[in-house]
Amino acid sequence: MNFKLTDNRFYRCYLGMLPYVKPYAFRAILAVTLCVPIGALDAVIAMSLKPYTDRIMIEKSAQDVWYIPIAILLFAIIQGALIYLATYLNAWVGEKMTRDLKFELYGKLISYDATFFDRTHSGEIIFNFNDQVDVASSQLLTKVKLLISRIFSSISLIGVLIYNSWKLSIIALIVMSCAFVPMAKIRKKIQGTMKKVVDSSAVLVTEYNESYSGNKTISAYNLYQHQKSKFWNILCKVTKGRIKLSQKTAWLSPIMHVIIAVGIGISIAYGSYLIVSEQITSGNFVSFLTALIMLYNPVKNFGNNVKEFQLSLFAIEQVLEKMKLEPNIKDKKNAVNLYEFKSEIQFENVDFSYDNGKRILHSLNLSIKKGETVALVGNSGGGKSTIASLLPRFYDVCHGAIKIDGINIKDYSLESLRSNIAVVFQDNFLFTGTIRDNIMIGNQNASDEDVKNAVKMAYLDDLLNSSEGLDTQIGERGILISGGQKQRIAIARAFLKNAPILILDEATSALDNKSEAIVQKAIANLMKDKTVLVIAHRLSTIQNADKIAVIEAGQVVETGTHEELISAPQGAYRALYDAQFARGNSHHSSNSN
Ligand SMILES: Nc1ncnc2c1ncn2[C@@H]1O[C@H](COP(=O)(O)OP(=O)(O)O)[C@@H](O)[C@H]1O
Ligand SMILES: [Mg+2]
Repeated sequence: MNFKLTDNRFYRCYLGMLPYVKPYAFRAILAVTLCVPIGALDAVIAMSLKPYTDRIMIEKSAQDVWYIPIAILLFAIIQGALIYLATYLNAWVGEKMTRDLKFELYGKLISYDATFFDRTHSGEIIFNFNDQVDVASSQLLTKVKLLISRIFSSISLIGVLIYNSWKLSIIALIVMSCAFVPMAKIRKKIQGTMKKVVDSSAVLVTEYNESYSGNKTISAYNLYQHQKSKFWNILCKVTKGRIKLSQKTAWLSPIMHVIIAVGIGISIAYGSYLIVSEQITSGNFVSFLTALIMLYNPVKNFGNNVKEFQLSLFAIEQVLEKMKLEPNIKDKKNAVNLYEFKSEIQFENVDFSYDNGKRILHSLNLSIKKGETVALVGNSGGGKSTIASLLPRFYDVCHGAIKIDGINIKDYSLESLRSNIAVVFQDNFLFTGTIRDNIMIGNQNASDEDVKNAVKMAYLDDLLNSSEGLDTQIGERGILISGGQKQRIAIARAFLKNAPILILDEATSALDNKSEAIVQKAIANLMKDKTVLVIAHRLSTIQNADKIAVIEAGQVVETGTHEELISAPQGAYRALYDAQFARGNSHHSSNSN
């Protein structure tokens, strides 16, 4: 292995990885140290050929040298044993490091805020947080080991060269250093291609994910051809990049091969002259050539390793970069715990925009008193869900503040803030597993009694009629159960969580009348004694709210009770109400699950 020792990038990568090697320092150092004798033992064969050749071939006598074949065998066995040990230690350290890195990265990953997930596709995550870690850590020690054994192998072989003939050595070494010249050029050239390969590999993983999640849409729209051609294009991009990478690196090997052949040629010619002029013995010459070929061999193969080595550096860089990423939304230094929600939630002059910069909320003011139910209504796209997502700090406000009991929610610890809030969305994520697993997400320590109660309150009994009851598997993302059942599982989950603040974001909007009626009953149970922020599409469901706020284009345009708002003939609420009334029941029945 060769690279410029002044290469900053190399240092940066390897130094950056040191903390992850540290827990396994002893074995790592042992593995690397073993490479000293492994490398040095390379010289034994070459060295022993000198007395052997001189005695056997020239003097035709086996005196004093009969043991040499046995010694070579012995040394080879020792070398083999050391290689085994070093390889095992290497794998051991590499695997542990991979585990630790993946674990730490996973911890980072789930701590990132919603903005990160909004702009990162799933393939990027799987590729960068999993695949690249494998490349980074498995290659790390391997390369260091290779480097050490090559260095010591080179030192010992060069020793053999010089022992046999210093004149020949100088020539051979000069030629060898020429072989490294093209190496230096290659790195910059492949940087861009490497990034393209890595990026398109990530897109490929996303494509698999989407084909999985979107399989029904693919079937419904007959997208087979479309998907296949999309996939083909990405595949071609990956393939093209990989071929290009090989194209840009593969010429190294043959060039080095030729340069080295020149070195060997010159050595043979000059060596012959030295023998003839009796400056060296035949044994010297044979020993020298053997050492030279052994020394040149790794150099020749080096071209093949360049690509791999550069890819591993690149992977290390990416992993280290991910390690440095910190979530934007995290606990302040002196964060306090929100133990008990006492009086009021206030949105004060809240401005908000997502990552793309478009302003979504404009100086929004809203207050929710403890025990109240406040409903947000308004046309879709107005910013209702955005408002709701600011309270558990899925995103942070840009200006203004959200306060709970007079304290900015940014001053509370995230964990305590979120433990006070339960959210039921329109589409709730269910994990692969059983109904019980999914309900207990609300409270991992819930007793059987609590779970049964939550099931009852969420009207989930119908789901439990099957023989497996709570242990029924629901499939990935709850694919095996109906929309209304999913919603009720989410409600049972919120029920177990028993948080004082409840957010309901269009929790029944996706359901047909019949399932809506039962989910609505479950919601009524859930809302008891809670402070509720409810977003509803169907105004009939929120008529009893203590306060209704109409949201239009990121602002509260009207607040009041249903009676107050309905009696304002020109009001925004009245307009929404009339529009829905005009559509009547036809709207309801158009939704079904
Ligand atoms: N994650 C997001 N990133 C960027 N823009 C978003 C995101 N979510 C919603 N928006 C935009 O914010 C606006 C308000 O959306 P939303 O709060 O979902 O409205 P509502 O719930 O009232 O229908 C819309 O214009 C929408 O396109
Ligand atoms: Mg919404």
